[in-house]
Amino acid sequence: MEYFRERLAGVTIECKPAADVIQRYDEPDALIYVDPPYMPETRIASSTISYRCEMTEADHEALARTLHEAEGMVVLSGYRCPAYDEWFSTWRRIDREAWAERAAKRIESLWISPSCEERLRRETEIQEANIMPLMRAVN
Ligand SMILES: C[S@@+](CC[C@H](N)C(=O)[O-])C[C@H]1O[C@@H](n2cnc3c(N)ncnc32)[C@H](O)[C@@H]1O
Repeated sequence: MEYFRERLAGVTIECKPAADVIQRYDEPDALIYVDPPYMPETRIASSTISYRCEMTEADHEALARTLHEAEGMVVLSGYRCPAYDEWFSTWRRIDREAWAERAAKRIESLWISPSCEERLRRETEIQEANIMPLMRAVN
C-alpha cells in the first residue's frame, strides 16, 4: 500500500474526454501520450474486444486536429491506416511488431510530433556534449 501511495503522490487522474484533458494541461513542456481506441477500420473482424467508449472516424479526425494544435510534445500510439498516414504525414512514425489479441502478431505504430522530435534531438545533443568530455577523460 505504501508503494502505491508513494507512486501516486502528485498524480492526478481525470475522467474526461481526451480533448478536455489535453487543453487543460497543454503547454510547451507537456508530454502528451495518447493511446486512443483503434480506428474502426483497423479492428480485426473477429475481435470481441471493444471499449466502453469507442471512437468513430470523425472522432479520430477531431482528435488529430486537437493533437496538431497542441503546444506540448505528442506521442500517439495505434495501428497504421490511410487516414492516419494522411493526418500525421509530417510526424515521425516508428513501427514495431507486437503481440495483439489471440496471440496474433501485428505492427503497432508510434507517431512522434515535430516538437517532440525536436526536443529529443536537443536532449540527445546535450547528453552527448556532457558525455564526450567523460569519454575523453576515460581514454
Ligand atoms: C487503447 S485503450 C487505452 C488503453 C490504456 N492505454 C491502457 O494501457 O490501459 C483506449 C481507451 O480510450 C478510452 N476512450 C475512448 N474515447 C475517449 C475519449 N473521447 N476521451 C478519453 N478516452 C477515451 C477508451 O474507453 C479506452 O479505455
